[in-house]
Amino acid sequence: MFLIALSLCLGIVVSAGVGLEFRYHNSLEVEKYLRNVNNTFGFTHLHSIGKSVEDRHATSSSRYIEQGSQRQCGFTVGQTQCRDLWVLILGKNPTEHQIGIPEFKYVGNMHGNEVVGRVLLLQLIDYLTRGYLKDQLVTRLLNSTRVHILVSMNPDGFESSNRDCMYSQGRFNKNGVDLNRNFPDAFSKESGTREMEVRAIIDWLKTESFVLSANLHGGAVVASYPYDNSNKGAELKGGSSITPDNDVFVHLAKTYSYTHTLMHKGDQCYDSKDFTDGITNGYNWYPLPGGMQDYNYVWGQCLEITLELSCCKFPNESELPGFWDANRDALLAYMQQVHLGVKGQVLDADGKPVQNSLVEVEGRPNLCPFRTDSNGEYYRLLLPGNYTFKVTYPGHRVLMETLAVPYGPASFSALSHDFRLERDAATTPSPGNTHPPESCTSSQVWESLEGHSPGLVSWGGTFVLVLQAACSTMLL
Ligand SMILES: *[C@@H]1O[C@H](CO)[C@@H](O)[C@H](O)[C@H]1NC(C)=O
Ligand SMILES: *[C@@H]1O[C@H](CO)[C@@H](O)[C@H](O)[C@H]1NC(C)=O
Ligand SMILES: *[C@@H]1O[C@H](CO)[C@@H](O)[C@H](O)[C@H]1NC(C)=O
Ligand SMILES: *[C@@H]1O[C@H](CO)[C@@H](O)[C@H](O)[C@H]1NC(C)=O
Ligand SMILES: [Zn+2]
Repeated sequence: MFLIALSLCLGIVVSAGVGLEFRYHNSLEVEKYLRNVNNTFGFTHLHSIGKSVEDRHATSSSRYIEQGSQRQCGFTVGQTQCRDLWVLILGKNPTEHQIGIPEFKYVGNMHGNEVVGRVLLLQLIDYLTRGYLKDQLVTRLLNSTRVHILVSMNPDGFESSNRDCMYSQGRFNKNGVDLNRNFPDAFSKESGTREMEVRAIIDWLKTESFVLSANLHGGAVVASYPYDNSNKGAELKGGSSITPDNDVFVHLAKTYSYTHTLMHKGDQCYDSKDFTDGITNGYNWYPLPGGMQDYNYVWGQCLEITLELSCCKFPNESELPGFWDANRDALLAYMQQVHLGVKGQVLDADGKPVQNSLVEVEGRPNLCPFRTDSNGEYYRLLLPGNYTFKVTYPGHRVLMETLAVPYGPASFSALSHDFRLERDAATTPSPGNTHPPESCTSSQVWESLEGHSPGLVSWGGTFVLVLQAACSTMLL
């Protein structure tokens, strides 16, 4: 009886005992599966970070009940499906952030017709939920990290996709916009409107201090890292657009490509470039403005890379188990890298954690200097070595400290270090300087860019540049 009830409850998605089926689940099935996971496992928490465009057309229906920012909806409204952007959180304390526990995220299916990542993230959820407190690696990961998984950022695109390897039917959102060109860009001034899916991600980044992330795509097999764009300033080196944390990004990309069974060999798809080590700088491959990984890094203090996981964007279902086998260990190893470097709090002269203090690492001039969050916390991914930190907060002396950083992933923890500031007797804090400027604004970024670059390429200019590149490169 219990088994019948259970299988009814799990419905078509889970076949008892053997885990999640290897096939393409539509948006309704994904929602049903995630709700079931949320109800079954206490170490998970499901919430919606927003809606897709197509869903908004449905909101005129009386079936929707507005409850503040939380909207409730049934499984279907008329002919239109309910398309929340569901995020499943996994971790020892899934409902809220804990001091010292880094926030990690995976985002899949941003291009609706690139579907292998969507399948892999569902399989990853299945693997993590079945392995917690049984498998050593899974248990240590979920005890030390809060993991956020957005299985599909573009459910409308997925539903309209035509299951083709190459064509781009389904790539865009319901408004025909490429979501990976719709983010604010540090290198191009533009005044476009943000799509709902993009706004949902931008707001999500404000609610959690994400440390590390990957964004899953298809159409090639390579790990691509920032920057994707450039205005031909100091960041442009030998055809690549290089971040101040390039050593860390290369390490992160190689962690994925070398743990993947094939990616590190390069040249996986008959028509793509031969990627040495299975990695590439995004700009070096092909420049693009408005991408999500640059936005995460520049404005979100979150290191994000783009994983291209299959030559064919929408492969035959029979190939899905093979993709899982090739990627499983890489997905886990990449998550473990959230423990690189140093983490801790910045404390003022009274020992109180302070928000918006600048935590800078010598030799790494980030466009937006990294700042402490509302808990006074900072996370800084760094490879093992000695680093000098400079911590700045109004009314306090600038603190310089050199730290020896070990390899954190081995122990599932970055080095813990709090910075204790001393009051600066010379400057009495005035109301004007107790509060540092709000988080980095685009105009500040552009000013700092103008300081060391020959001038800004306008959005229009960049777009022309990109269109030219796109003509000779398949869109991925
Ligand atoms: C997740 O599960 C909790 C506990 O069972 C429940 O209260 C909550 O409503 C569920 N959330 C969703 C989105 O289904
Ligand atoms: C993980 O956390 C759980 C719950 O607190 C605890 O019972 C378990 O021993 C921990 N396991 C590891 C490997 O840290
Ligand atoms: C998918 O693979 C199966 C098994 O290999 C095969 O029978 C089927 O024809 C394939 N479908 C397509 C559309 O290629
Ligand atoms: C870091 O500094 C210590 C001395 O403080 C030194 O022994 C060590 O070799 C240095 N490590 C690196 C990687 O430079
Ligand atoms: Zn893509």
